[in-house]
Amino acid sequence: VALNSLSDLLLHELKDLYSAERQLTQALPKMIKACKSAELAEALTVHLAETEGQIQRIERAFGLLDHTPRSQKCKGMEGLLEEGKSLLEEDADPDVLDAAIIGAAQRVEHYEIAAYGTAIAYARTLGLDDVAALLAESLDEERAADEKLSVLAEGGINALAHVGEAQD
Ligand SMILES: [Fe+2]
Repeated sequence: VALNSLSDLLLHELKDLYSAERQLTQALPKMIKACKSAELAEALTVHLAETEGQIQRIERAFGLLDHTPRSQKCKGMEGLLEEGKSLLEEDADPDVLDAAIIGAAQRVEHYEIAAYGTAIAYARTLGLDDVAALLAESLDEERAADEKLSVLAEGGINALAHVGEAQD
């Protein structure tokens, strides 16, 4: 697909995000299963449901642009999720693994925050306020999910991962 206009670029971003969000819905259940902290599992479960809603918003955005939803493999998300998957395969202490899962999940959130921010800016420049507003709802959810993960990490999970560690 040629990128000859900002409209082309917005569509490209939407296809990438569509792929990214769909990959995430495949990966989150495994991460949730691996959590020791019930609070962390709950936060990721809430975000899985949000992610399904985000996929629907992207489909609506395609509709507003008179396009059929199509994805284009997001290799960035694929790489982030591969790293997350290899963490789950480590022989890890459960508390340490919880801290690691948060780190992996926050990388994903930051990646998505960047992608939505970019797509929203394109939509605004194009005067597509309805598309921008739709994507901004998802951006708010990503920011809130990231914030929640920071609260969990700094509110106890990182400290639990550190308990019993030799101090010398
Ligand atoms: Fe998302």
